[in-house]
Amino acid sequence: MPCLGNEQKQITMHEITIDKALSRAEIYETLLPQIKTIIEGEQDLIANLANITAILAEGLGFFWVGFYRMIDGELVLGPFQGPVACTRITLDRGVCGASATQKETIVVPDVEQFPGHIACSSRSKSEIVVPFIQDGKVKMVLDIDSETLNSFDQTDAKYLEQLAEMVTNLHPNI
Ligand code: SME
Repeated sequence: MPCLGNEQKQITMHEITIDKALSRAEIYETLLPQIKTIIEGEQDLIANLANITAILAEGLGFFWVGFYRMIDGELVLGPFQGPVACTRITLDRGVCGASATQKETIVVPDVEQFPGHIACSSRSKSEIVVPFIQDGKVKMVLDIDSETLNSFDQTDAKYLEQLAEMVTNLHPNI
C-alpha cells in the first residue's frame, strides 16, 4: 500500500468500510477480504501486522489489539493498538503464554477467573488469544482485549483463526 504525497496526483489510501449495524460475524466477513487486499501487496511482516491491528481495532471497537511475536522462546510485544502493554511474556505466564504453549485459541470471558492472567491494563475484562502456527511452531499470538465481560466466543475464534491462516500463508517464513 504505497502512500504518495499530496502534490502527486495518484494517492493510494485504504479506508476500511464497516457497517456497524452488522453482526460480529458479518463484520469479520467484511474485514477479512479487506485485510487480505491490504496485506497481500506488502511483504514486510511488521507493516502488515501493524495494519491488521488497526483494522481490527477500528472494525471491532476493542480497546487493545496486538501481536506478541515468539523470539528466543519468549513472547515479545509487536505491533498493537491501544494502551501501553507489557513487552515480554514468558510461556509459563498469562493467557498469551497458555495459548502459545497449548497451540490453541483461548477465550477468556472474565480475566479475573483465569489463573495467571497478566493485567497489562485494569480496563481489560475479557480476552481472546489466537496462536499463529507455521511448520508446527507458534510464531506469534494475536491478543485482543475488551473492556466488557464475555466479549468473545467461538465466532471470534473461527474468524481470527482464518486470519491466522491467511497471514501464515502469505508470509511463508515468519
Ligand atoms: N493479558 C495478557 C497479557 C497481554 S495484555 O493483555 C496486552 C495475558 O494474560 O497474557
